[in-house]
Amino acid sequence: MSSTAVLGCAWGDEAKAKIVDVLAKDADFIIRFQGGNNAGHTIKFNDEKFVFHLVPAGILYPGKICVLGSGVVIDPFALITEIEGLKNKGINFENRFFIDPRAHIVLPLHKELDGNSEANNNHTKIGTTKMGIGPCYADSIARTGIRFGDLYEEELLQERLTNNYYYHEYSQNGVQAMAENLMEAGKILQPYLKQIPYMWKENKDKNLLFEGAQGTLLDVNYGTYPFVTSSHTIAGGIAIGSGFTGKIDKVIGVYKSYYTRVGEGPFPTELLDETGEQIRIQGNEYGSTTGRPRRCGWFDAVAANYTAMLNGVDEIALTLLDVLSGIETLNICIGYRYKGQKIHEFPYSTKILAEIVPEYIQLPGWNEDISSITDFSKLPENARNYAATVEDLLGIKITIVSVGAERRQTIFR
Ligand code: IMP
Repeated sequence: MSSTAVLGCAWGDEAKAKIVDVLAKDADFIIRFQGGNNAGHTIKFNDEKFVFHLVPAGILYPGKICVLGSGVVIDPFALITEIEGLKNKGINFENRFFIDPRAHIVLPLHKELDGNSEANNNHTKIGTTKMGIGPCYADSIARTGIRFGDLYEEELLQERLTNNYYYHEYSQNGVQAMAENLMEAGKILQPYLKQIPYMWKENKDKNLLFEGAQGTLLDVNYGTYPFVTSSHTIAGGIAIGSGFTGKIDKVIGVYKSYYTRVGEGPFPTELLDETGEQIRIQGNEYGSTTGRPRRCGWFDAVAANYTAMLNGVDEIALTLLDVLSGIETLNICIGYRYKGQKIHEFPYSTKILAEIVPEYIQLPGWNEDISSITDFSKLPENARNYAATVEDLLGIKITIVSVGAERRQTIFR
């Protein structure tokens, strides 16, 4: 057995799904352990675009088994739509897609609560995806939530829904209809129900690939709180969210060659100028779930070292390097100053993070289109130098460089 984790090491959208897609060919199981349909991945395959929100991207490989662990939150209606869409494109789900019955259900009520709190001036605006993720996780912790396995027990479901609606001071009138809708969805999803932790016991000789969603700086404990998502996006979330308690043999940290962020919250290296706009356009930096333009900025080695530490990153996948082509001078942040003093740790306070002044080194850019290069040594010298600088600053080897969305646009070292 081997186990590999592919984890986003910034604020999400690091092109993890592309890396998972490339590595999935050597895996038997591809497992998601947190997040919900706030995630969005687009995979280009055979000139066709596949957009994923909940289903692991590994489903594109025939025969691979894809799993949603108990740490994932599931909007059953959105999941059914996603599965149907993929089935219509010829993807087979039979005996190769499974969901832990302990996974919590995102209710329409959660979406409403998410939207309301984002619109409420007395509540800190997080810039959420409004998919109901935060309220669903909050219900799970408050022990007022509905779990996937509850959709198969009518009385229990009604009782849990009544309890949930009461807790949120929501009219009880809708309980019956919602229970019926959920049971209907449950029927469609029933073939996928499986006690996931037992799968690890029964498949000891298999290769597991854990697919992170969002990124480390959005982790509910270690991210830029409160501007975070509500799940544990770091390597530590794997055991909790999947029931796999073995050692992770290899943690691949996915770092974008520049940084992006969607939603609110501090972003020390953010570019509010033409270069930021150039990166946004060249990188097509618009959210796959919400379509929002992403905020763009320089690579931040202080944040990158912090996220490497939190995840125990063994190897780096450096993505979207092609997007930096044509920028004359590239900056990399190598330090922070707060009130004139150098600080060595990534601040836990978002107030401090918003006030720090980044210190940069400048590197010469390159003009060549590198999107069809498949050999590291063929990259322009300045691109190789950029990658080598990231390696030096993190003290971790880059083993994968991605230069485009397609599988073939991948350099292995
Ligand atoms: P939520 O996960 O919808 O509650 O949103 C919380 C924060 O996480 C917001 O800043 C979102 O923009 C961000 N977020 C959630 N999912 C993703 C993602 O897949 N990529 C990037 N940011 C995300």
